[in-house]
Amino acid sequence: MQPLKGLILSGGKGTRLRPITHTSAKQLVPVANKPVLFYGIDAMAKAGIAEIGINIAPETGEEIKEVAGDGSAFGVKITYILQDEPAGLAHAVLTAEPFLGDSPFVMYLGDNLLQGGIIDLVTAFKANEPDALILLTPVPDPEHFGVAELDGDRVVALAEKPPEPKTNLALVGVYMFMPLIHDAARAIEPSARGELEITDAIQHLVDTGRRVEPHIVQGWWKDTGRLDDMLEANRLVLDRMEHRVEGELVESAIEGRVVIEEGATLTRATVRGPAIIGAGAVLTDCYIGPYTAIGEGCAVENAEVEHSILLAGSTVRGLDGRMESSLLGRNVHISRSDQQPRAFRFMVGDNSEITIL
Ligand code: TTP
Repeated sequence: MQPLKGLILSGGKGTRLRPITHTSAKQLVPVANKPVLFYGIDAMAKAGIAEIGINIAPETGEEIKEVAGDGSAFGVKITYILQDEPAGLAHAVLTAEPFLGDSPFVMYLGDNLLQGGIIDLVTAFKANEPDALILLTPVPDPEHFGVAELDGDRVVALAEKPPEPKTNLALVGVYMFMPLIHDAARAIEPSARGELEITDAIQHLVDTGRRVEPHIVQGWWKDTGRLDDMLEANRLVLDRMEHRVEGELVESAIEGRVVIEEGATLTRATVRGPAIIGAGAVLTDCYIGPYTAIGEGCAVENAEVEHSILLAGSTVRGLDGRMESSLLGRNVHISRSDQQPRAFRFMVGDNSEITIL
């Protein structure tokens, strides 16, 4: 088999993560202080894939290019592929055809996280050489996913978010394809939601007698497209992190596994892991609870934060209650003042969500 190439899809609209995605790509939202996208690039690099194409959208592509660069930091070569509209995953494959040529490839959704990496499935793909190999995992709510039906070691049918799923096997956002997938993507029509669906292209392979094999995922898989999933991914990654304290601690207590990056300063703070505190963060008279990722240069003072993600430069000061299960974008400032009359005062962008408990 020719060497495999990689295709990471980092375009899309990201409507479910607004307002964060009004100003930034969802694939760059950090999980344990590292952009989601980097986990996919790392997984490919570890599986020996040297050439990766990253599919980008006009609105967020430049930012992604800036952050991921030419790939040398990961030991790979990255080529950027502009998809001018988010017309579906199979459309993204066709857009990438000039880059992919006649190479077999791994396609990885840029907002997905796969705990076990992809070495296992690359090995299975190379050994069996099916026309497509799809990753599946049992889920409790298959009606929200692409769902596969199997007959032994063959995939016999696929459906996108079926109202009455025939199995509980959901498609995970990682696929392996032979170059034949381009013809399949050309043969299909847009779905009811107007997208060229990858499930339809794979179904076309099945219908034309091609071999589509399933691979059941070991370990967890997360699609970080929504806030709750993002927090859950953060929790899962923090759970496996190694303890490392490089910042400065003054009269502060650390419990459990935490990472405190160099240049962070903790004064009379308590951090209960698993948690990560980014470089240059300033924590004063505060409590940081489990499953929290505090980004670079954030400040938390006289406040309690738990099970949350704060992006770089955000500050939380003087809260009465504990902030939890929250995602703050970059340079968000939350504070309390003692002025009268006591009232709430907000300046909040479109599609924001604020819950006062
Ligand atoms: P989705 O999460 O299915 O779509 P989306 O990004 O438009 O998000 P939402 O549903 O919240 O509006 O996309 C999965 C991944 O594939 C994600 O990383 C974006 C990427 N993608 C593309 O690169 N091109 C596309 O045409 C589509 C639909 C998605």
